[in-house]
Amino acid sequence: MGATLSKIPRHVAIIMDGNGRWAQQRGLPRVAGHRAGVKSVREAVKAAIEIGIPVLTLYAFSQENWKRPKEEVSVLMSLLDHFLDKEIKNLVKQGVRFRALGRIEALPVKVQKKLTEAVEKTAANNTLVFNIALNYGSRTEILDAVREVLQDAQSNAALMNGALDEAYFSERLYTRGLPDPDLLIRTSGEMRLSNFLLWQLSYAEIYITKKNWPDFHKQDLLKAVRDYQKRERRFGDVHG
Ligand code: FPP
Repeated sequence: MGATLSKIPRHVAIIMDGNGRWAQQRGLPRVAGHRAGVKSVREAVKAAIEIGIPVLTLYAFSQENWKRPKEEVSVLMSLLDHFLDKEIKNLVKQGVRFRALGRIEALPVKVQKKLTEAVEKTAANNTLVFNIALNYGSRTEILDAVREVLQDAQSNAALMNGALDEAYFSERLYTRGLPDPDLLIRTSGEMRLSNFLLWQLSYAEIYITKKNWPDFHKQDLLKAVRDYQKRERRFGDVHG
C-alpha cells in the first residue's frame, strides 16, 4: 500500500459529525448513532496505521457538547469508558501511542483514570499517535498556553524580548511535540471549524464529505488522502 501512496499527510484531524442524523435516518435514537460511531473510531485507527499516517486526531467531545441532554452526555461518557476498557490492550498491541487533548480534569473521575492509564501504557509506542479531543475547546487551549507563557516569562525575561515565537508557543499547546495537521476531514457535509485546533489548522487542507461518521470507513479515509495528494499546497506562496 505504501508504494501506491506518496505524500502521506503527517497528521490527519477529523471532526466526527452526523451520528445523530445517521440514527434519525434509521428511526433509531441518537445514541445509537454514537454507538455506531465508536466502530468508525476503531476502524479509523486501524486504517491510519495501514495507510501509514503518523498522527491521527479525532474530535470526540467539545466543551460545547456539555449543553446536550444529560442522558446523551452520559451515554457518550459511558461509550468512552467502555472504549478505553476494551481498546487499551489493542492500542498497546498495535503500537499506538494514545493521548487525550482537552480539559480532562472535568471528565468523570473513572474516565480520567482510564485515560491516564491508556496514556501511560502506550507512552513508548510509535506506530501511530492517536489523539482524542475530549472536553476540548481551541480558544481555551490557546488561553491555557498564554497562561503558561506568562508564567514562564516571570523567570525568563528573554521571552518578552523576542524569544517568544511560533515554535515556542506551539510547544505550550495540548498538541506539543506533534506536527500540525496537514489534512482536516469533516463528515456529514458541515463546513465549520467548531472551535477545533484553530492555531494548528492554519495551513491544513480541508476535506468535507457528506457521509455521516458511522458510514465513514477505510475507503473514505483513503479517498480523502488521495484528494489531499492532488492538491498543490502553497503556504501563502505565489502561484508557480
Ligand atoms: C457528532 O455527531 C458526534 C459527536 C458529538 C460525538 C462523537 C463521538 C463518538 C463517535 C463516540 C465517542 C466515543 C469514543 C470512543 C471517542 P452529532 O451527534 O453532532 O450528529 P448530528 O450533527 O447529526 O446531530
